[in-house]
Amino acid sequence: MSSYNYKKMKISIKNSSEIEKMRVAGKLAAEVLEMITPYVIPGVSTGELDKICFDHIVNNQNAIPANVGYKGYEKTICASVNQVICHGIPNNQKILKDGDILNIDVTVIKDGWHGDTSKMFLVGKCAPHNERLVRITQECLYKGIEAVKPGAYLGDIGNAIQKHAESNYYSVVEDYCGHGIGTIYHEEPQVLHYGKSGSGIQLKEGMCFTIEPMINQGTKFSKILSDGWTVETRDGRNSAQWEHTIAVTKDGSEILTKRNEEFQ
Ligand code: MF3
Ligand code: CO
Ligand code: CO
Repeated sequence: MSSYNYKKMKISIKNSSEIEKMRVAGKLAAEVLEMITPYVIPGVSTGELDKICFDHIVNNQNAIPANVGYKGYEKTICASVNQVICHGIPNNQKILKDGDILNIDVTVIKDGWHGDTSKMFLVGKCAPHNERLVRITQECLYKGIEAVKPGAYLGDIGNAIQKHAESNYYSVVEDYCGHGIGTIYHEEPQVLHYGKSGSGIQLKEGMCFTIEPMINQGTKFSKILSDGWTVETRDGRNSAQWEHTIAVTKDGSEILTKRNEEFQ
């Protein structure tokens, strides 16, 4: 890995054999979200979903669930329901019910390399306002990804996301961001989901980072619960998030965590 220095920031540049390892890890992370989909139904607990993901990663993928032991976190997935923005801790008492919206976020380590991705699930029949939040948030992710190419600026990504969210009367969470990723789970640069076009560093082929917009129905403000992890909206309204791990390629980007259900 070489690196690119900008104002003391060290952003690693991955070569093609390193990107190939990121591709393998990314594919496995995506496959966890595909595998868990049929289990996400009313009546299941987030604790049960976590156990199924852990067992799949360890026993079937022969990989490592990166969240386990990360800064003291004990679970494999984050399971964030309704007004939870991110880092919801799975537990056996939290039973999903008809109409809930759920984000499952998972990171897999394979051969030392990380793949980090999340998607939203509509549990049973959801209210139109929740379906709309989930759909627009996924569009925000894709608009962010479309802004990625060598020579573009990090701020172009945030700007594309913020414009789409706010033109649909939603707000962008500013307290959490995307991140560089590779052999290290969270590395530079920080990828903000808001900002000005043309601001921040210029993207270069071989950079790898996540884009993971968190979009709120109400205000952008968040709070952390007393468990030290769960992040909720301050106003109690719902929030959605989608995440992909991306590589900057010669003429655009590659989604390393793409699922089969996605086009692109
Ligand atoms: N996967 C999250 C992210 O997108 C981080 C989760 S850290 C945990 O960066 F410890 F809460 F699992
Ligand atoms: Co994640
Ligand atoms: Co991430």
